[in-house]
Amino acid sequence: MIEQVDQLYQEALSNLKTAESSEALTSWYRNTLGTKGNIQLLTRQIGQLTKEERPAFGKRINEVKQALQEALDARTAEVKAVELEAEIAGGAIDVTLPGRRRANGRLHVATKTLREIYAIWADMGFQIYRSRDVETDEYNFELLNIPQHHPARDMWDTFHTTTPSVILRTHTSPGQIHAMREYYPEPIRVILPGMCYRYEQITARSEIQFHQIEGLAVGRDITFTDLKGTLTSFARRMFGQERKVRFRANYFPFTEPSAEMDVECILCNGSGCNVCKHTGWLEILGCGMVHPTVLKNGGYDPEEYSGFAFGMGPERIAMLKYGIDDIRYFWSNDLRFLEQF
Ligand code: PHE
Repeated sequence: MIEQVDQLYQEALSNLKTAESSEALTSWYRNTLGTKGNIQLLTRQIGQLTKEERPAFGKRINEVKQALQEALDARTAEVKAVELEAEIAGGAIDVTLPGRRRANGRLHVATKTLREIYAIWADMGFQIYRSRDVETDEYNFELLNIPQHHPARDMWDTFHTTTPSVILRTHTSPGQIHAMREYYPEPIRVILPGMCYRYEQITARSEIQFHQIEGLAVGRDITFTDLKGTLTSFARRMFGQERKVRFRANYFPFTEPSAEMDVECILCNGSGCNVCKHTGWLEILGCGMVHPTVLKNGGYDPEEYSGFAFGMGPERIAMLKYGIDDIRYFWSNDLRFLEQF
């Protein structure tokens, strides 16, 4: 049996030399020194030997086990070194590769449009006046000449809060009253941008929240001509110097007379297309001369002062400008949409 031990020893040694990976070394160990390995199985046969033979056998087995373990450790070190080198060579860093560009954020298309509009009004001397999103019924309706139960209230579907008479503003017009009460008796040139809220079915054309930019000019001798001239100048700067505009009579409770301004369609230049529904015109804002009652509510005497006001929707303007066919894209946070601007 001692011969058998030596034979296994030689075989194991030569097998070990051919093991060239960590996996091969692991299976060599399993076949040799492991609990079900050859050496271990042979060790168990010690019971078949005579008492006299056993010490020599045991001694030899232990020597062989130790020698094999040492041989394994040495071979493992060699194999590991080769593997490490291969890994380093394979994962070499190419320092000449260009760096990866970090993804930069960008402004939302609504913010961009707002800023474009602010810049034009700033050039014309209009300051930004920030007004609250949460309003009272009084400011949102009553002081704007829309009493309770007035049928004009149907024009604005309103979000009410649990506090009676406290609502989310349905338009930026209540800011007119805040601005007038703050500025009186100074002349006023302000724009009032901000989010508005309406309790409406969300569709491709209407959202429950959207921006408006209100404008207000109050002073002595302001006439409808000033309104037309100022808004025409805005439209030309926003949509192109050659752009035609037109005013159509309309009704708002807080302006008298009231109008809507259209610009010549920016996609077909007036010849008629799907966006302008083949009229050649796009409606972009509501406007009018500030109603005497509203001036009075703001603290200005309508005998002495006059003014004009207007309100436009920047998302609507962006939709026309970029040919966006669904307003829901603005607040649904889809990067595929947002990254286009
Ligand atoms: N507040 C009106 C709306 O929401 C727009 C408007 C503003 C009209 C100012 C005239 C003057 O529809």
